[in-house]
Amino acid sequence: MKITTADQKLYKVHSDALAVFLFEGEKPSGEVPRLDKAVSSSISEAIKLGDFKGKAYEVTSIYTHGKVPSSRILLVGAGKRADFEPRIARNIAGSAARRAVKLGVKSLAVALREGVNAEEVIEGVGLANYDPGLYKTKKETSEISELTLIGDINKQTVKHSQVVSEATNWVRKLISEPPNVMTPKRMVEEARKLAKDYKFGIEVINEQEAKDKGMGAFVGIAQGSDEPSYMVVLKYRGGGRQNLGICGKGITFDTGGLSLKPSDKLTDMKMDMAGAASCFGTMRVVGELKPKANVIMVCPITENMPSGKALKPDDVITSLSGKTIEITNTDAEGRVVLADALVYAQQLGATKIVDLATLTGAVLVIFGNEAAAAMGSPQSWIDQVLESSERAGERIWQLPMYEEYKTVLKSEIADIANAYKGHPSAGTIAGGIFLQEFVKNKTNWVHLDIAGTAWIENEKPFITKGPTGFGVRTLVKLIEGLEKAK
Ligand code: BES
Ligand code: ZN
Ligand code: ZN
Repeated sequence: MKITTADQKLYKVHSDALAVFLFEGEKPSGEVPRLDKAVSSSISEAIKLGDFKGKAYEVTSIYTHGKVPSSRILLVGAGKRADFEPRIARNIAGSAARRAVKLGVKSLAVALREGVNAEEVIEGVGLANYDPGLYKTKKETSEISELTLIGDINKQTVKHSQVVSEATNWVRKLISEPPNVMTPKRMVEEARKLAKDYKFGIEVINEQEAKDKGMGAFVGIAQGSDEPSYMVVLKYRGGGRQNLGICGKGITFDTGGLSLKPSDKLTDMKMDMAGAASCFGTMRVVGELKPKANVIMVCPITENMPSGKALKPDDVITSLSGKTIEITNTDAEGRVVLADALVYAQQLGATKIVDLATLTGAVLVIFGNEAAAAMGSPQSWIDQVLESSERAGERIWQLPMYEEYKTVLKSEIADIANAYKGHPSAGTIAGGIFLQEFVKNKTNWVHLDIAGTAWIENEKPFITKGPTGFGVRTLVKLIEGLEKAK
């Protein structure tokens, strides 16, 4: 999608559709009355008749009959002014774009206004313009090929937001790719390409090397699969004292292993590498924008398969930290592979870590598709992540890690069990409690459970169903924050 900017009167704009945002109960102001006049008061008529109320995500299409150079005006509801925030700004821009896509619009013009600025519009339109039909032999939807932003715009913001939205859609594509295509080997190819394009340091650790290094947790899960597995490291040095570690769960397909999932829970499990994909996407943004911060990415990448070589419930394995893990459920594989990734990131010098993982179905029970869960320590680091997510328009909600929860993962035979025995309570927190065992006290660490947000089951007005690319924008904001703090 080509992005251009213009500081132009709305009634002079050429486009297939011109989007104008209005709050609920708001009278058109600024440039809009002039546009309304040019189209014989069609806008005020739509409002008067109640065809357009300004509710969030509402889009009303008005034909201009050649009275202005744009063929249509899309009146886009911004909702109640009091509820407005950057997340909504991005989503209403997305809802305008989704409508435009459905109408077959090629060139979309968007009138910026206070609160709905270039960043939100570019990201919202970019995400809405994603075509999920990767393998359709005949294209079913058209795409917006040109976005024109109308208003006073900073060119840096345009470049920045375009990079972020393209990286996010790339992440969505990686997640969408079927598991017979997006194998661990293919993920490694993608990482190698990133390293080459952006001159990152790269380390690809194969199973034998992982075994030699003592990554018994990662290798344990990997051993059940016929596909080769890898621990993948990318290193970016942009300066500053902080070394941010980002770790992403990269299970390219989660069958549950011998604790096999029931058939209806198996579909969509190609998305279990979304955490790693979001880390890849973040590295792509880092490579493009070159922030003054250091980032170390460590992603364990493997399938989780049942086989004669697979881990069995009751097996005990030794992780890179030396701690032993009793496997009580092979479907709780994400935390096991991440344990070694977290330890390795710390060995490589990461002092502040965020991990992203589609770790538990339980987070869907808590938040549905609306928020990711955060756990970690210290609180100041969690706050920094939460604040970044707010600015990024991605919802994250903190869960407690009370001491008492530790009893859930008590093992008779080893240092810790990978999953509860008996009643499955506090499933998402148990995931956090497990990972915490592999983080040193002085390391700043946040775990994000993105199982509910990385993939949405139903279409929304502003985004198709399926992968969302959740996490990229939060991590980018976080890295920018580190850059400023130095
Ligand atoms: N990949 C799943 C979690 C998941 C579920 C992601 C639904 C996306 C949608 C994870 O590996 C898993 O199976 N977790 C188990 C943990 C349990 C065995 C302790 C779960 O949530 O049931
Ligand atoms: Zn699983
Ligand atoms: Zn999983």
